[in-house]
Amino acid sequence: MNKFTNESIQQILEYLQNILSVKEAEAIVSFEVLNPDVLKSAYAGEKTIIDNIEYIYRGYKSWTDLSEILFCKMLTPQICTTHTVIISYQKLDISDSFHKSTLEQKEKYGTKSEFFSINKNEEPAFLAHYLRALKNVDVSSKKRILNLGINSGDEFEVIKNLTTTNDKKLVGIDFCPSAIEVAKGRFKEENFTFYNHDINELDSLNLGKFDLIITIGTLQSSGLNFKVTFMSLIQNYLELDGAIILGFPNCRWIDGEMIYGAKAPNYSFSEMTLLYKDVYFCKKYLQQKKFRVTITGKNYIFLTATSIRK
Ligand SMILES: C[S@@+](CC[C@H](N)C(=O)[O-])C[C@H]1O[C@@H](n2cnc3c(N)ncnc32)[C@H](O)[C@@H]1O
Repeated sequence: MNKFTNESIQQILEYLQNILSVKEAEAIVSFEVLNPDVLKSAYAGEKTIIDNIEYIYRGYKSWTDLSEILFCKMLTPQICTTHTVIISYQKLDISDSFHKSTLEQKEKYGTKSEFFSINKNEEPAFLAHYLRALKNVDVSSKKRILNLGINSGDEFEVIKNLTTTNDKKLVGIDFCPSAIEVAKGRFKEENFTFYNHDINELDSLNLGKFDLIITIGTLQSSGLNFKVTFMSLIQNYLELDGAIILGFPNCRWIDGEMIYGAKAPNYSFSEMTLLYKDVYFCKKYLQQKKFRVTITGKNYIFLTATSIRK
């Protein structure tokens, strides 16, 4: 097993990339490093000498980041000596991803899909930023809330936990029949309504206007015209003093892990032109329409807009 003492992270990255490139999925690669608990308040790269050996310090955050960058899952570190630990990375099965689903379009995110085993609300990198977005729009004051692409209702679960929802009307739309059935079963209260319906035909539901519209990971779907749908929502479905939360995925779900960075068409790595383009289009449009806009998040980018029209 390799031991890293004062090698740079550039050297370690290259070494691990080479080893992992010839390994099968699920293979484990282990190496010994300085125990991060040995130093307090140190930054990655700080040097220390123990028993005449020079070590470069890195915290567990650096080791989990590196694991994610290498498309691995980091296993529980093992104590090796009084001042070193063994870090182990398990190579992810990159073929195991709902992004490669062959299910027909409407069931791509349904109960039989890989996507259905994902619970974003249990990922702090999603939840903390979603909570921040809900706070930014003052969700407690919003009475009528619309969610487009609600799937099985996770985004309503968070609102339900936060507020007394029985004074609110929550409406969820998704064209996936099996996901909407699950949502109906989860939220049986009268103030929740779910429609198995295509967002392209939203007008036929005569829903009226809403105080808050939420749509996460949906408007960029292949069957929707992003800009047209977005502008129609603002013009036809939002109250004058309404607010909106748009969530743009900036991650992939692979073999149980949420990996930072969206996969872009025509690139073998995460490339963000499309993401920035869409986020910026919405920001500009909303500012012209007199909304105050914030952009936050990490693995999901959240655009929140609150009206200053009144
Ligand atoms: C990537 S999933 C996101 C689901 C959920 N908002 C989340 O972030 O976990 C996209 C959702 O939008 C739904 N969807 C995509 N296009 C749609 C359309 N044209 N009409 C209605 N629902 C649509 C899909 O069925 C799916 O549930």
